[in-house]
Amino acid sequence: SDCDSSPLVNQGPFGSELSLTLQVQKHLEPFRLSLEKLQDVSARLRKDMIRGLGKHSHHRASVKMLPTFVRATPDGTEKGDFLALDLGGTNFRVLHVRVLEEEQRVLKMDSQICAIPQDIMLGTGEKLFDHIAACLAEFLDSQKLRGQTLPLGFTFSFPCEQKEIDKSILIRWTKGFNCSGVEGEDVVNLLKEAIHRRGDYDISSVAMVNDTVGTMMSCGYRDQSCEIGMIIGTGTNACYMEEMKNVKRVEGEDGRMCINTEWGGFGDDGCLKDVLTEFDEEVDKTSINPGVHTFEKMISGMYLGEIVRLVLLKLTEEKLLFRGCPSEALLTPGSFETRFISEIEEPDSGLENAKKILTKLDLDWDLVDACVARLVCDTVSSRSARLCAAALATIVNRIRINRGLDHLKTTVGVDGTVYRKHPNFSDELQAAVRLLAPKCDVTFLISEDGSGKGAAMVTAVAQRLALQSLCV
Ligand code: GLC
Repeated sequence: SDCDSSPLVNQGPFGSELSLTLQVQKHLEPFRLSLEKLQDVSARLRKDMIRGLGKHSHHRASVKMLPTFVRATPDGTEKGDFLALDLGGTNFRVLHVRVLEEEQRVLKMDSQICAIPQDIMLGTGEKLFDHIAACLAEFLDSQKLRGQTLPLGFTFSFPCEQKEIDKSILIRWTKGFNCSGVEGEDVVNLLKEAIHRRGDYDISSVAMVNDTVGTMMSCGYRDQSCEIGMIIGTGTNACYMEEMKNVKRVEGEDGRMCINTEWGGFGDDGCLKDVLTEFDEEVDKTSINPGVHTFEKMISGMYLGEIVRLVLLKLTEEKLLFRGCPSEALLTPGSFETRFISEIEEPDSGLENAKKILTKLDLDWDLVDACVARLVCDTVSSRSARLCAAALATIVNRIRINRGLDHLKTTVGVDGTVYRKHPNFSDELQAAVRLLAPKCDVTFLISEDGSGKGAAMVTAVAQRLALQSLCV
């Protein structure tokens, strides 16, 4: 056989292979986090979550714990037609969604992807929202929906300070967006203004939704014990149902509210210094938002490929790869795409994929190089899965203790390209959660289009609650 994912095992016949293995391992060591370390990370996150929930401590918390004003998960009686916008993942999309009560199903009637060019991602807010309004107009025309004013769920996957379900102020951009004049503004207003500037159609109510919340809600229709939503895609984040009495920033003691943790910001106060590698520091320094979203930069799809590239480059400089010769491509930021990691770690075709990718990157590789590249990918993606597990374990442990239970059975709705596309990410994550939250029995449900359908669900649940409160 060619080699497996830990290729250079010590029994290699050549002494030089053994010493190469040891040297490569030495560089990868900082990525390997022991169970104790993960427990420690989880304990730090626990403290930060409490700080984020506090009335007087939240404004300086790096884990923002944002109230979402979503107070209930679906009960299965919701229904109707909805529009949804989804901004902040891999693509910007417009959707028409139908919630069918009889069949307990959410149908995507149709959807359309609209590209957001780089110059709009980094341009003015006005341009961005004009673009969004134009995409929506085009979709309404293609669906012959322009005459109807359907309620709209807006999945806007950035940290927002929500005042109400339809008032949502962007705290800051993440994940490569940086449009001027939006931070500190109400996103619903900006959308409505852009639609009024056009003047050729209108929308009725708007519900603002983070993608984690959409994911939780879309799974919640199928499985009513789903009370956590998690995304591991371009960015990473999670939300969960918290007891109102712990949500000190919102009036009221009864019931629950969904909290958008924004765990991507964990570590922004420096508390993860001992976990960060030199490669993480480099990724942060060269990103468009240095110092922001430290945890996310170790985990999510926007950054994993770049971490791998930097490690490969380092190993090349140390003459441990490619005979010490980097290619122009390897020297170029962003050239190692995150999807390459999944391809290279594929159990059957991985090594062949590695060879193709290294060739495409113009590298002069041999078999050992291909195996080392695979080991690097595996190391970086495993760390990502285990860090996510530590964070998720913090949440499930908290829910269990909140409810005074010895044992918690719960469901997490999950979405995101990294979780979906990587061959063993979900297995590693789940295995680590079992170790870190031994008293919790966690089921993982992949959400089918949570950002789209979930936004409709949030809007539908809000309507149901409004109706119910009229009827009592
Ligand atoms: C980023 C955003 C967050 C979102 C996550 C996943 O972390 O700040 O709001 O949920 O990406 O898309």
